[in-house]
Amino acid sequence: MKTKKLSVIAHGGAGSSNEHSDGTEKAVQACYEANQNNSGLLHAVAQAVVVLEDDGRYNAGKGSHARENGKVEHDAAVMDSEGRFGAVAAMEGFKNPIQAAKAVSETKYQILAGDGAAKFAGDQGLEPTQLQTVPGSGKDFSTSPTTDTVGCVAFDGTTFVAALSTGGMAGAHYGRVGDVPIIGSGLYAGSDGAVAATGDGESIMMKITAYRTYKLIEKGGSPQAIVDEAISWFPLTDAFGVILVTRKGSAGGSNRSMAWSSREYA
Ligand code: GLY
Repeated sequence: MKTKKLSVIAHGGAGSSNEHSDGTEKAVQACYEANQNNSGLLHAVAQAVVVLEDDGRYNAGKGSHARENGKVEHDAAVMDSEGRFGAVAAMEGFKNPIQAAKAVSETKYQILAGDGAAKFAGDQGLEPTQLQTVPGSGKDFSTSPTTDTVGCVAFDGTTFVAALSTGGMAGAHYGRVGDVPIIGSGLYAGSDGAVAATGDGESIMMKITAYRTYKLIEKGGSPQAIVDEAISWFPLTDAFGVILVTRKGSAGGSNRSMAWSSREYA
């Protein structure tokens, strides 16, 4: 089968170990395979995020941090340059929150939260899971070392897609929602590129980070220069990483260690 054009980057989150880039490699490969199978780029990118959610070493899906009450809540989002956006927030009980976000993008809604998101995911036949630690075992929010949202961005020569999934901030109040499901905060995709951020969600959303990064892409800077500029918006105390893909190429970086992989298929 002829290899289809694809530029893809996946990351395991700001603060994830560089030694865990075998997982982000697998995610890139999953995106490539799904794209080869004509499943659509949004589906292919979601498949990459499923691999990261199932890995267990990143703060998403199976590996998610617990909240202060010991429970796990998920935020996830997808966006493409064709005008699709879907997200879930503070959703409990599903193995692959990115699939719920993708399903939301196919409805008249943009974001579903909490019990309503879980009911919707159940109605879609998505696989349930139980992720719960001992109550009270969540870490102190103020000393939480990392947030580690996972993400993937891709371009097939026509469409740009960005996707994110996270367990949120370790030890945070239940119901806390970060940047991931907020359009233009954690992710953005338009006709010139796609951006996926990771790190301190409060800081990322207050800087409208993904949209401002996308505006730099529109201005025409080099991918690496744009990544460097976005990183410069964050003090070193605020974990931050970003991956992006443009018509000129792709780049990624972080002010922490970060597992990430990129591949260009001609
Ligand atoms: N960046 C993910 C979060 O703060 O929830």
